[in-house]
Amino acid sequence: MNETVTIPRSVEWNETHITILNQQKLPLETEYLELKEIKDVWEAIFSLKVRGAPAIGITAAYGLALAAQSYQTESIIKFKQLLQKDRDYLASSRPTAVNLFWALDRLLSSVENVSSVNEAKTTLIHEAICIQIEDEEVCRQIGEHALSLFKDGDKILTICNAGSIATAKYGTALAPFYLAKEKGIELKVFASETRPVLQGARLTTWELMKAGVDVTLITDNMAAQTILTKGINAVIVGADRIAANGDTANKIGTFGLALLAKAFNIPFYVAAPLSTIDLKTNTGADIPIEERNADEVTHISGTRIAPEGVKVYNPAFDVTPNELITAIITEKGIIRGNYTEALANLF
Ligand code: MRU
Repeated sequence: MNETVTIPRSVEWNETHITILNQQKLPLETEYLELKEIKDVWEAIFSLKVRGAPAIGITAAYGLALAAQSYQTESIIKFKQLLQKDRDYLASSRPTAVNLFWALDRLLSSVENVSSVNEAKTTLIHEAICIQIEDEEVCRQIGEHALSLFKDGDKILTICNAGSIATAKYGTALAPFYLAKEKGIELKVFASETRPVLQGARLTTWELMKAGVDVTLITDNMAAQTILTKGINAVIVGADRIAANGDTANKIGTFGLALLAKAFNIPFYVAAPLSTIDLKTNTGADIPIEERNADEVTHISGTRIAPEGVKVYNPAFDVTPNELITAIITEKGIIRGNYTEALANLF
């Protein structure tokens, strides 16, 4: 059986602007925004209108290519200075997902040997488009590998949104569910709501329901009870940065799920592209963890839920130590065991 499945996308290049799906408004409104200037791109990434490691990278790449089109110089040296400045500006939008820096630096490398400003402008657009096209194929391959770990009827828990709208298409942790749907394999997904920004409740349920994937929403504090009473077979999550030793930064709450998976003796899988693996970061302790505004914790949908003046700690990510990860699934296959060696071998 090969079913046609609706899989939403979140970023589109339109020559004079970038169109993004405003993920802050989902699921109540399906709003598309046109980003015409580099500051719009920075703001969209910073404010989570576009989010998810690969989608951030794709949008930033288009943002840099777009900005470069307006440089008024014929000097390639001056052009590269302006490009570096804009690269650094976009790189300051969020600190944890390494795909942002990976994509921006890939654009810089693409113009290393160009001979004219015109050639550089075209090359940058071409490179950004390649990043998006490649990511779709990469996510499909991750989905195929991940699907080989599941069997018909499995119940799988995930957190945040590592789905189609967090990438070019398919997602990473959610890719196997789209492929299973296409192939007529029944998998049941349990989505953790993911406080404080609710990517699980707002985005994962939205995109999986659109595709007709069986999804059940739980709050974050229901995870242990759900694993116990619903017979969860595995946990699968995405990643924002995987250090050289396999320690993995992902949405806050991921580490807790990994500990639960160990306690219940079920596998804990990380699904991510090679662009999320950062061999220059040795261990999880070296990954910068973004801390966001207190309002995200003290308010839900604009309504205050905590006393004014309360002290707040709001880390957006946590790090799961490599020993809690059963396997890392990339486009090149599934790796287990000694991650330091296996990750290095991927490159
Ligand atoms: O803060 P967010 O929503 O950008 O965090 C996203 C995640 O943590 C995802 O799991 C990760 O980026 C992987 S997306 C394929």
